[in-house]
Amino acid sequence: MKLTLSLIKADIGAVGGHVRPSEALLKCVKEFVANEGSELLIDHYIGFCGDDIHILMTHEEGTNDKKIHGLAWEAFKTGTEVAKSQGLYGAGQDLLKDSFSGNVKGLGPGVAEMEFEERPNESFLMFAADKTEPGAFNLPLYFAFADPVYCPGLLLSPSLSEGFTFSIMDVNYTKGDRIVKLSAPKDLYDIAALLRDNHRYVVESIHNTKTGEQAVVCSTSRLHNIAGKYVGKDDPAMLARAQQAFPATGEIVAPFEIGHFVGGLCRGSHNAPLMPVKKNSQVAYFDGPPLVQALAFSVKNGKLTEPADIFDHPYWDWVRDKISAKTVEMRRQGFSGPAMLGFEELEYGGITERLERLDTKFTVKKER
Ligand code: F6R
Ligand code: MG
Ligand code: MG
Repeated sequence: MKLTLSLIKADIGAVGGHVRPSEALLKCVKEFVANEGSELLIDHYIGFCGDDIHILMTHEEGTNDKKIHGLAWEAFKTGTEVAKSQGLYGAGQDLLKDSFSGNVKGLGPGVAEMEFEERPNESFLMFAADKTEPGAFNLPLYFAFADPVYCPGLLLSPSLSEGFTFSIMDVNYTKGDRIVKLSAPKDLYDIAALLRDNHRYVVESIHNTKTGEQAVVCSTSRLHNIAGKYVGKDDPAMLARAQQAFPATGEIVAPFEIGHFVGGLCRGSHNAPLMPVKKNSQVAYFDGPPLVQALAFSVKNGKLTEPADIFDHPYWDWVRDKISAKTVEMRRQGFSGPAMLGFEELEYGGITERLERLDTKFTVKKER
């Protein structure tokens, strides 16, 4: 069967700051999707990562479907009323437009969707992140899909032998989706040259070059492009199919051991290592750390198994300890140099006003 996976996520309010959604809010979103989606959806899974709620849906309506997007939009709208009634912080934060016009893209929520012929043993991973940006997936995807050190399948498996084609989006472009397709290993250095800039270039999707099958789709929204001003980081989500013509589950998750520095953390304005955490983890330290969850699913005729929580393991406890140390090491230098993001990525714009005011106070020293 042709199956569509739709992952739609939004921050519609959280307990005690930007920490996590309340139980009542989650219950409301879950009930809404279960009731209103009972005819439309084959199956669904709902959880949270920090202050973001993600709705994973399986169905046969294809990508960008008005009914599917409308269901998620209405679930978030209805949830926002609960968030407001409980006084949750940032109620409706990511619902940037008032009316729904057929597609949630450009309205605030993050979307990652793909349609494919379901394999007899379809395995995929759902990633959700918080307190960071879509480019946070650039390096892990580069390693998992283009580097035989992380993905020995590129050397060992004939079905991976021609490598993968990356579709990379320029997220600074506001007049549409500006995308370049580059294939590894042929264009490896071009891919690296773009992916080094996590704020501007973001992996949008990845396909197996030989078979053409889609392996990955990432959410790529830039909230400040939609709102016209900074309204928070675009905490990303991603779907990645695993095994056979794709990297093994282990090859896809392995690069998250690095804890690479990404934009995010407190006030979305710092560089901090990305920490792999267990499902439904809340924010814990300095409005962070930047979090990522990986849930592995099997799916048959659209019916999902329960998720296997990849980062819930003693191995990842050890990784988390190392990343905590790395986080604190960078935090100790506060606002200095690479600890904070560059001007164009800082939240709120307050620093620009401050510097403009200070600029008028500078005087040129006269030579004696
Ligand atoms: C980062 C984030 C938080 C807020 C901070 C201030 O993405 O969400 O660090 O920036 O808690 O929030 P406001 O400005 O809402 O008081
Ligand atoms: Mg928030
Ligand atoms: Mg968030």
